[in-house]
Amino acid sequence: MPTSVAVEPGLEPEPELAPELHGFRRDLLVAAGSLWRDFPWRATRDPWLVLVSEVMLQQTQASRVVEPYLRVAARFGSPAACAAAGPAEVVREWEGLGYNRRAVHLHRAAVAIVERHGGEVPGHLDSLLALPGVGPYTARAVLALAFGAPVGIVDTNVARVLARAVAGRPLRPRETQELADRLVPADDVWRFTQALFDLGAGPCAARAPSCGSCPVARDCRWAAGGHRCPDPAAAARRRQSEFKGSDREGRGRLVRALRRSPVHVSGLAAAAGWPGDSERALRVAAALVHEGIAGWAEDALVLV
Ligand code: ADE
Repeated sequence: MPTSVAVEPGLEPEPELAPELHGFRRDLLVAAGSLWRDFPWRATRDPWLVLVSEVMLQQTQASRVVEPYLRVAARFGSPAACAAAGPAEVVREWEGLGYNRRAVHLHRAAVAIVERHGGEVPGHLDSLLALPGVGPYTARAVLALAFGAPVGIVDTNVARVLARAVAGRPLRPRETQELADRLVPADDVWRFTQALFDLGAGPCAARAPSCGSCPVARDCRWAAGGHRCPDPAAAARRRQSEFKGSDREGRGRLVRALRRSPVHVSGLAAAAGWPGDSERALRVAAALVHEGIAGWAEDALVLV
């Protein structure tokens, strides 16, 4: 199992950590055990399984990833095993996650890893970024969590924690990334990163932060500034109303139907949950075809 990685120029954290950041870092590491959530992908540092889990975790709540991850990891335990299967097999095991395009990308990434890297996930930023479906977030996550490179990983939760607790003010994306890179301790990258995820999903959650029992409350700039945490319910209501009736909702229903059997063109609208709006259903079907998730077989839509 690889334990080190050549860190790319520009990714080194600053050697000096501002004194006020020390407290947060230290207290978060002390609290790591009490914040810990036991996820199956945390039991491995295998770069392929870390890549699989991070792709699955994109835009998805961690608890929802557990079952599909266990299925995918058991079935495709290596890039070679995944590459040897068809993309439809990966989409099928993706059941329950949504954003099926990620499954197709993961399959393409597996093929690229076999063809370009002899079946081993590369430990360099540029090679990771060149893989299908791997953006800066996922590439950094693999570098940090599989190879131990001291790079900060910024997802929505982490960005909120850094702005709220560490900076005490809104941060631009670039500032957020710089702060994350500075904060991560080079000798404990994995534990610190997981603790940051756990803090963002637990005490420092967007909707219902529990500042009273937060283990890093004494380091929290937001609380020190006398701020109250933002109205969480508003964000939740907004998210729910954005999803209801959206193309994404119908698209999810269509892919679920396709997992069971091909859907004839005359049944597309009903399968998408929009009886009477075949135009919209056809548009969503065309997007699935364009993204390599589905294809046409005669007059029926099928998973690729
Ligand atoms: N989100 C992204 N990576 C994660 C991890 N390893 N654990 C929990 N949530 C995550």
